[in-house]
Amino acid sequence: MSQILNHEISIEKTNYSRIKEQDINNTSFGKVFSDHMLVATYKNDSWQEVKIVPYGNLEMSPSMSSLHYGQAVFEGLKAYRSPDGKPLLFRPEANHKRINESAFRLCMPPIPEDIFMTGLKELIRLDADWIPTQDGSVLYIRPIYFATDESVGLKPASSYKFIIISCPVGAYYSEPVKLIVTDKYIRAAEGGTGAAKCAGNYGGSLLADMEAKQQGYDNVLWLDGKEKKYIEECGTMNVAFVINDVVVTPKLTGTILAGITRDSVLTLLRDMGVKVEERLISIDEVVKDYQDGNLSEAFGMGTAATIAHISTINYQGSDMILPPVSERKYAPQVLQRLEDIKTARVTDTYGWVCQL
Ligand code: COI
Repeated sequence: MSQILNHEISIEKTNYSRIKEQDINNTSFGKVFSDHMLVATYKNDSWQEVKIVPYGNLEMSPSMSSLHYGQAVFEGLKAYRSPDGKPLLFRPEANHKRINESAFRLCMPPIPEDIFMTGLKELIRLDADWIPTQDGSVLYIRPIYFATDESVGLKPASSYKFIIISCPVGAYYSEPVKLIVTDKYIRAAEGGTGAAKCAGNYGGSLLADMEAKQQGYDNVLWLDGKEKKYIEECGTMNVAFVINDVVVTPKLTGTILAGITRDSVLTLLRDMGVKVEERLISIDEVVKDYQDGNLSEAFGMGTAATIAHISTINYQGSDMILPPVSERKYAPQVLQRLEDIKTARVTDTYGWVCQL
């Protein structure tokens, strides 16, 4: 047992590490899981049991309320290795803040800082060998939080599980991505859950995503739910455009996820002396800038992908083909800077990197 402020954490180590069976530097995204997981239980109005146990299946009731009504939120963050092999986390406090904001929107109680932060650090310290050593591969960490009431009555649940699992991963996209604008589906609407990282937002995006793939594209470029005019996100990422040497990204209107990668990228760009604008940006403006030769780059920003260069955007049947990545100036540079900070190859002056 170790004391984590108000909550104790018990640790049951596996007696058989599966790491020997895996090439952790070469796994497909999200299919192989590390040896342990953190499981915390909320019931009777308080957080009760916090434990680290061998990774394994959970027992659940078919009446478990999150399966029915979607009180389920999650996070994504990554663990890296410093040049001397030390495990590092990137901005975990920001994930803790965001999961509680998502939880608030879904009527779920907040997760105490000691459970999230100390539990996370203990878990990753224990599974540090699972952090890949090869450049471009990392340990992706997935905190999940869901309602466990055995009841099909619709109401905020009174029992929950908070779990953290992790998996070694390579690049989320191996190539620049092709997007297609949809005006058939929307991802979020004013007053809805668009800013929350809740499971339903992702489930609701799948049909549009599948149709995009059937048409030969990788992801959807989402427009706003009211006028179908303003750009919001791309696939599961925030999006930015470089127009006349200014990086323009949709402002956070409440329908867009406040990406931690988005915030990190914008901060770095500004500190690199690049002009950044967070504002409404219409698809018509992007098309006009493309036609006038002012659109030099577009990229997605998210934890899994970090930065995904966008090669093509289809709007109303026409492809806008963007310059090759080798000719791009801003996204490759900021990506390099971000990766250098995350892996402690350069000094972190932002207080983003967290040692275990
Ligand atoms: C992430 O980028 O971390 C996400 O949560 C998106 C997910 C679809 C991989």
